[in-house]
Amino acid sequence: MKKFLSIIGILLAFGPAAAQTPGNVTKEVLGDHNGSDVCLYTLTNKAGNLLKLTNYGARIVGIFVPDKNGIKDNITPGGDKLQTIINGDAFGGASIGRFANRIANGKFTLDGHEYNLPINNRPNTLHGGPNGWFSKVWNSEIVPNRKQAMVKFTYLSPDMEAGFPGTVTVSVTYTWNDKNEIIIDYDATTDKKTVINLTNHTYFNLNGAGKGYIFNQVLTIKASSYTPLNATQIPTGEIRPVKGTPYDFTTPHPIGYKIGETYQGTVFRGYDDNFVLDRKGKVCATVYDPESGRQMEVITDQPGLQFYSGFGGMQWKKSSDSGEKPEHTRSAFALETQHFPDSPNQPGFPSTVLNPGEEFKSRTIYRFSVKKE
Ligand code: GAL
Repeated sequence: MKKFLSIIGILLAFGPAAAQTPGNVTKEVLGDHNGSDVCLYTLTNKAGNLLKLTNYGARIVGIFVPDKNGIKDNITPGGDKLQTIINGDAFGGASIGRFANRIANGKFTLDGHEYNLPINNRPNTLHGGPNGWFSKVWNSEIVPNRKQAMVKFTYLSPDMEAGFPGTVTVSVTYTWNDKNEIIIDYDATTDKKTVINLTNHTYFNLNGAGKGYIFNQVLTIKASSYTPLNATQIPTGEIRPVKGTPYDFTTPHPIGYKIGETYQGTVFRGYDDNFVLDRKGKVCATVYDPESGRQMEVITDQPGLQFYSGFGGMQWKKSSDSGEKPEHTRSAFALETQHFPDSPNQPGFPSTVLNPGEEFKSRTIYRFSVKKE
């Protein structure tokens, strides 16, 4: 009898019945990209809220959560059809590697050897270069779990891919649970000394994708300092207190309140800056949208957070397949948990070196709720 019950238990956990449990994931093959299947995964939690993922760039392509009136809307721009995903914003929603953010002049030195990377953000390398992991079709699998929806993406990055040393095995596992949390677990190992910096580059508009500007969305970042930039957006190496600057979000402020005063290096960019987080593993940032009532909290074990209020590359074209509206600069923001930009060239920053035999492990959570006023 005991044996019979445990067989039933296993069937409930991993069998067809799993689709009815809170751990509900469906998979659809969207089509081919360079000889590989691009798949769409739809993860549904108990409340019927959706997280949509694709293996093209191990990427988030939809987050459907309710507003204060219970109306669900997608809060990330883009779309979930093959052409929209492949031709859309290259970084939007993607897992970014091998090295998130900029590496100055596409160069760094490890053990006396200089490595040269392709330049895609003059004169620097941005987000792993033009063929970074955001542009790869990853292997993917549904992780059997009775309680929550989980999908795991894996990728094997060959030695010297995009100029970086070491064969790197990486996985990004997404969990969508009943607390409306997207939990992102990163894991990476290497067979040669290398550098690594992983992030997720989802754009958010808590009022709904395509529904106006983000200026009134209220941001808190638990960071007492930030890393000022030079004219090509490379940190100067200084860790500067935010107090008295437009970068002070230690108490809640609308994104737009001092956006006109952000001027770094020689270029006005709005916010596109790395914040030095005060504490690891706690809520490091909160965004609240008074119009919809939606709130997002960010939790991470990483030392930095890039707050990007959108500058270039933010025009999503209207697409017939999913009817997105054209987007404008400042119509979505990104909060990218990460190590500091250009760390391989900055001895004063926390190290991004990964050695053979070590495991890079990191977790970031985006948690959604509705705030009652
Ligand atoms: C951000 C970066 C921005 C911009 C964006 C992609 O992470 O800091 O400068 O390049 O990605 O459009």
